[in-house]
Amino acid sequence: MAAKKELRIGLIGTGFMGRTHSNGYNRVPNFFPDLEYTPVLKVVCSRNAEKVKAFAEQWGYESTETDWKAVIARDDVDAIDICTPNDSHAEIAIAAAKAGKMILCEKPLARTVAEAQEMVDAANEAGVNTTVWYNYRRIPAVSLAKQIVDSGKLGKIFHYRANFLQDWTISADVPQGGTGTWRMDVDAAGSGVTGDLLAHCIDTAMWINGAITDVSAVTETFVKERMHAITGKVQPVGIDDACIFHCHFANGSLGLFESTRYARGHKALYTFEINGEHASIRWDLHDLNRLEYFDHRDEGIVRGWRSVHVTDGDQPYMDKWWVPGLGIGYEHSFVHQVADFLKSLETGQPCSPNFQDSLETQKVCEAVLDSATSKSWKDTGVESFTM
Ligand SMILES: NC(=O)c1ccc[n+]([C@@H]2O[C@H](COP(=O)([O-])OP(=O)(O)OC[C@H]3O[C@@H](n4cnc5c(N)ncnc54)[C@H](O)[C@@H]3O)[C@@H](O)[C@H]2O)c1
Repeated sequence: MAAKKELRIGLIGTGFMGRTHSNGYNRVPNFFPDLEYTPVLKVVCSRNAEKVKAFAEQWGYESTETDWKAVIARDDVDAIDICTPNDSHAEIAIAAAKAGKMILCEKPLARTVAEAQEMVDAANEAGVNTTVWYNYRRIPAVSLAKQIVDSGKLGKIFHYRANFLQDWTISADVPQGGTGTWRMDVDAAGSGVTGDLLAHCIDTAMWINGAITDVSAVTETFVKERMHAITGKVQPVGIDDACIFHCHFANGSLGLFESTRYARGHKALYTFEINGEHASIRWDLHDLNRLEYFDHRDEGIVRGWRSVHVTDGDQPYMDKWWVPGLGIGYEHSFVHQVADFLKSLETGQPCSPNFQDSLETQKVCEAVLDSATSKSWKDTGVESFTM
């Protein structure tokens, strides 16, 4: 067997996403053995020397750093993986691009369109490969939903509906800022549920159903003041706790999106439903191996919603896993993204969503927030997606 080409990874940030990505890099050689490239866990970076060493040992990294700039300066690293809070994505990505490194960046690409545009410009100028971890696309049932829509089975699309519901910030005692709760601090996160959760729904929606052209939104911040975890000061909350928007897609369909962290009983309920002229599909993250499908052209006496268990070898990604009938999980979407990024190095095709695609998602997020503030419809200015 020919020796594999190496993709030497420098991973920055060892929290939730640092773990999911590290798991992805470790699993890919076992389950995608035909790829030309293989990831090499060269270095991991986090600010606490002891913790980052323990992480390196647990996940198999060769070395550690405590300053991300040192990772970028290293000659033995090809790709920078950004798993830090949103306020550091632009600075790290721009420095990485300038150093000629490939970039795998967590979502949302940035806090604002202006930051995201600078990242796109830096990556384009350097000519480096990029991808953004909108991982839900790579859950087999979600990939299958796209295949079904692309095949034309649904006919003309009328409606796209998505929810992303959580309940973890209802208590006024949850602080803002700091290590575990940076998502509550607008300076660190850029926005609340819009950038954190709806960005996923928007990415999936535009991938499956095309550009969102204009939006009308309402947001709410239910708890107006929270203590800052670092300063201890009680200060105004700048993030959106909840957001509902409706929109037009370029294909003439209507969209309805809702996200909140105040839906008691829901931990991470991401669902979408698409209604077309002939057929509809719906998906639910809590039952992620299933895709529901209704086809009006079925014979009347047996017509109804089918629940497709997406575990057969001819369904997306499933030939790489176990045997038909056996499901996979959330973590596999990250394994698939690593595999697709490595494949993109072989083929020379972009690993969508790249920085440019994710700038388009950022434009929708910003238009949503602008619409809520101005209480008016906003054009998104979205141009295209590489699909
Ligand atoms: N794709 C997804 O579904 C998904 C899910 C969760 C989070 N995210 C995104 O991933 C990113 C990280 O989120 P998370 O949940 O892993 O956060 P986290 O708080 O669990 O981890 C963040 C990590 O970054 C480290 N860090 C912060 N500043 C740093 C710096 N200057 N240098 C080095 N390390 C630094 C922290 O120590 C921590 O290890 C965010 O952009 C978030 O939006 C994406």
